[in-house]
Amino acid sequence: MKRNFKRYTVTAALPYANGPIHIGHIAGAYIPADIFVRYLRLQGKDVVFVCGSDEHGAAITIQAKKEGISPKEIVDKYHQIIKSAFDGIDMSFDIYHRTSSDLHHETSSAYFKKLYDKGVFIEKESEQYYDETFKQFLADRYIKGTCPKCDYDSAYGDQCENCGSTLSPTELINPVSTLSGATPVIKKTTHWYLPLNNDTEWLLDWINNGKLNNEKLHEPAEWKKNVLGQCNSWLKDGLQPRAITRDLDWGVKVPLANAEGKVLYVWLDAPIGYISATKQWALDNNKDWEPYWKDEDTALYHFIGKDNIVFHTIIFPSLLKAHGDFILPQNVPGNEFMNMEGKKISTSRGWVINIHDYLEQHPTKTDELRYVLTANMPETKDSEFTWKDFQSRINGELVATFGNFVNRVMVLMKKYYSGEVPSININLKINNGETEGNSTDFKAELKTIQDKINRVGESIEKFRYREALSRLIEFASYGNGLLQFNEPWKKIKEDEETVKVIMLAAVNIVAGLAVASQPFLPKTAEKLFKMLSLNSEDFTWGNAAEIIQQKLIAGHQLNEPEILFEKIEDEFVEKEIEKLNQMAQNAAAMGSESKVEIKDEIQYDDFSKMDFRIGTIIEAEKVPKADKLLKLTVDLGFEKRTIVSGIAKFFKAEDVLNKQVMVLVNLAPRKLRGIMSEGMILMAENKDGELKFVSPEGLTDNGSSVS
Ligand code: MF3
Ligand code: ZN
Repeated sequence: MKRNFKRYTVTAALPYANGPIHIGHIAGAYIPADIFVRYLRLQGKDVVFVCGSDEHGAAITIQAKKEGISPKEIVDKYHQIIKSAFDGIDMSFDIYHRTSSDLHHETSSAYFKKLYDKGVFIEKESEQYYDETFKQFLADRYIKGTCPKCDYDSAYGDQCENCGSTLSPTELINPVSTLSGATPVIKKTTHWYLPLNNDTEWLLDWINNGKLNNEKLHEPAEWKKNVLGQCNSWLKDGLQPRAITRDLDWGVKVPLANAEGKVLYVWLDAPIGYISATKQWALDNNKDWEPYWKDEDTALYHFIGKDNIVFHTIIFPSLLKAHGDFILPQNVPGNEFMNMEGKKISTSRGWVINIHDYLEQHPTKTDELRYVLTANMPETKDSEFTWKDFQSRINGELVATFGNFVNRVMVLMKKYYSGEVPSININLKINNGETEGNSTDFKAELKTIQDKINRVGESIEKFRYREALSRLIEFASYGNGLLQFNEPWKKIKEDEETVKVIMLAAVNIVAGLAVASQPFLPKTAEKLFKMLSLNSEDFTWGNAAEIIQQKLIAGHQLNEPEILFEKIEDEFVEKEIEKLNQMAQNAAAMGSESKVEIKDEIQYDDFSKMDFRIGTIIEAEKVPKADKLLKLTVDLGFEKRTIVSGIAKFFKAEDVLNKQVMVLVNLAPRKLRGIMSEGMILMAENKDGELKFVSPEGLTDNGSSVS
C-alpha cells in the first residue's frame, strides 16, 4: 500500500447460504479481512467492510432438494445461522447483507441491463447437459464427474474442490446428473456470454504490471504469489467467452423479454452483491455509496479463499471495467485451503468444525479460536488445524507468554502502588527486555514500544498475518524479558525509584499490547483497555506510544487484574477429537443410507412379463479386444443359448464353468461385438463394485423357472 488512499472498500466473499460456515471459511477469507479492516480503522481510515449471504445459484437449490424444503426456506435458515456465527466470532462488518434482497435484485438486474444495452454480451446457442428424467437443463453444480486435471472423482461441472481448478461441465470425465444419477444428454439452449476472450490482453497487463491503459494502478509485487500464479495459469492460454445466464428457476431473472426461465449466473450476481451491500449500508448511514466504488482515491480489496480467485481477479474485474465507471481492485489477497486433523475439511463427511457449534461449546473462547486460525492461516499454501496445536499454542503463547506477562504486571502494580501509576524519575536507567545488561531509559522504552507496534502493522500490510501474530507474541515476550532482566521483585527493597520506572515501562507495554492485539484478539484488547482504565477509541496505531504516554500519567488509577486466557487441558483436546470422530461416523452411516435409491414402483404385470430360468454355464471364452466381455454358452435344459456378459473384469473364463445361474430368457437379443447375445445372466453388485452370480441354493434342474 504505497498510495495514500482517501477511503477503503473491503469485501469478504459472500458465503453461500446453503450450510453453516466452518473454520476453513473463517481462516481463509473472514479473519484476514477482519484483521485488515480493524487495522485500517485503527489508523483512522475511512473504511467500509461489506459482506452478506450469497443466496442464489444451484448451491442453494441442491441443498433445498436435499433438505426437502424450498430454496427460500434454505436461505432464510442459513442466513441466520451464518450471520450469528459471524457476530459470535467478532467479524466487524459494517453490513451483512443478502443477495435475495430487493435492492440486490434491482442492482444486479440493472447492472446486467446496462452491459446488455452497451452491447457487451454476445447471445449464443450452445449445447448443454440436460437431465431427461427431470426435464431440465443442468446447472454446472448439478453435474459431477471425474476431474480432468487431478482425477478426483467428485468434481463439479464448474469446479474441482480437490485441486481448485475451474472447469466446464463438458470437461468432466463420466459426467452424471446429481438429480437423477443418470448420464445427462446434450441439448441446445441460448445464453448470454461475456466475451472474456477480448479481455485477456488488458488483464495480463493489469495483473502483472498493475497497469490499465498505461496508468499505474497497483503494485503487482504486493500481490500474493499464489494469486498471481492462479491468474497467469488462467490467462496463459487465453480466455473463452463465459455464459453469464443460466436455465434455473431460482435467482435474479434475466431482465429481457425473451428470457423466460433464465436467471443471471450466480457468479455475475454475487460479486455485484458487494455493491448492493454498500448501497444498503450507505442508505442506513446517510452516506453516498458511489465514491466507495467509483472514486480513484478509493482502494478496493477482495478477501477470498482459493476457489474464488479467478472470479475476483478476472471475471468480476472484467464486469467492472465493462460498466465503465467502476474502479478495479487494488489487491485480491486470496488464501489457500485449511485442512483439519490430517484430512480435508468436509461438511458432507462430517469432518468439520462449524463456527456456530464451536461458539455454543466454547462461548468464552472466541479470541482463542481467532488466534489459532490466524497462526495457521493458509496464506501461501494449504495449512492444517489440529486440536493438539490449538492446545499447545494457547497454553504456550496466549497463557504462558501473553497472559502471564499482563498478569504479572497488573498484580505487581496493585501490590506496589495499589494500581495507581507512580510518578517517575525520567533519567533513571533500566535494563531493556532484549538482552541482559543492555540498559535503556524511559524515553527509549516508549520508542521501542512504538517500533514493536509498527512491526506488527508492516506484516499486516503485506497480508502476512502469521508473521504479524508472531511479532505480537514477541512483543509480549519482550515484556516478560523486561521483568526478568530487571527483577523488580528483588529491587523493590533497595531501589524503589528504579522499580517505578520498570513498572511504568511494563504497564506501557501492556497498553501497547492492547493496541497491537486489537485486530487479532478484539475481546482481549477490550479487556486490556478496561484493566488499564483506558478508552480504546483514544488510540491510533501510528501514535500509540505517544498517546500511552499522555494517558498513563502519574495518579492514573488502574482497574483490577483479570485473567485473560485459561489453560487448555488434555481432556479438552480428547473430547474434541472424540466429537469429530463421532460426527464422521454419523455422516458415513447417513451417507450409506441415503445412497439407497429404489426405482419407480411397478405393477405385478410388469414383473410377470419377465421369464427367469435356471441354467448352467457350459462353455466360456474371452471376447477378443473387449476386456470386459465373456462369451458364454448356457444350458437351459430345453435349449442352449449364447450370452455375452460384462463380467470379464471379475471372472476368468475357466472360473465360471459349470456354475448354475439365473437367466432372463425373454430379453430381446442384442448384438455385442458382433455376437448375438440371447438373454441376460443376473448378477449382484456389492458395495465395492464387484459382481457376484445370483445362483439357486443347491443344484437344481436347468430350465426351472424362477418367480
Ligand atoms: N458464495 C461463493 C462461495 O462460497 C463466494 C461468492 S463471493 C462473491 O464460494 F464474489 F460472489 F460474492
Ligand atoms: Zn481436480
